[in-house]
Amino acid sequence: MQSKPVLETILSHRSIRKFTNQPIPSAIFNALIEAGRRTSTSNNLQCVSIIRITDPAIREGIQQASGMRYVGECAEFLLFCMDFHKHQQINPQSQLDWAEVTLIGALDTGLMAQNVLVTAESFGLGGVFIGALRNQIETVAKLVNLPSHCVPLVGLCLGYHDQDPPLKPRLPQSLMCYENHYPELDQTALANYEQEMIAYYQARSDKTFSWAETIQKALNEPVRPHILPFLQKQGFLRR
Ligand SMILES: Cc1cc2nc3c(=O)[nH]c(=O)nc-3n(C[C@H](O)[C@H](O)[C@H](O)COP(=O)(O)O)c2cc1C
Repeated sequence: MQSKPVLETILSHRSIRKFTNQPIPSAIFNALIEAGRRTSTSNNLQCVSIIRITDPAIREGIQQASGMRYVGECAEFLLFCMDFHKHQQINPQSQLDWAEVTLIGALDTGLMAQNVLVTAESFGLGGVFIGALRNQIETVAKLVNLPSHCVPLVGLCLGYHDQDPPLKPRLPQSLMCYENHYPELDQTALANYEQEMIAYYQARSDKTFSWAETIQKALNEPVRPHILPFLQKQGFLRR
């Protein structure tokens, strides 16, 4: 199995949302899950489960819950769950409802999901995360029979590319990596990034859209307010 070097893989990342119908060979698929399994994990708690969705009806359900067409079109769809169910079974005294436990679980889940995506990209596959499944998180949890203390945090569509999008510009290092102290916001660097993003969106569509508008769209209204009661119902975030 040929794979690209780590840095080359990471620096060429862009989300892929259109896939051929070529399946992923099982040796590669197994390597992806192995890469996930080797991920660093807080206190060795290993509080992440991956659910591979092969049942077309469940795929369809997650596609509808997320509103993301490519959930039904990719070769593989993986559901990454923060999972303290086994911890609760092994040790019923576990205090899983502290906010810190949710941070631990969310971090571990994100790290594992990213390891799987980077490994897939190193094999020439493409993918995109699906956070939109949290639009109907309870529906998704029911579709895959999640027990208490288990929460679907993000999905991952994987497959062979049927598109070749450009890299999406990121903030310059001066706006995301600081030395010793948090600085004043560099307004000139920020204005330059706004222009860069406007040019990026203009080149891809005739829309004028900027990073400030991305922030407004994502954060100017209640952000999935159903998440807190769902997390609490699953046994998290009560204190
Ligand atoms: C946790 C997470 C959830 C995401 N959820 C979605 C999603 O539901 N639908 C989607 O099309 N893209 C989703 N994305 C992809 C982001 O939109 C994408 O990474 C971002 O716009 C940067 O673009 P790039 O990955 O092409 O560089 C998600 C990314 C992350 C990290």
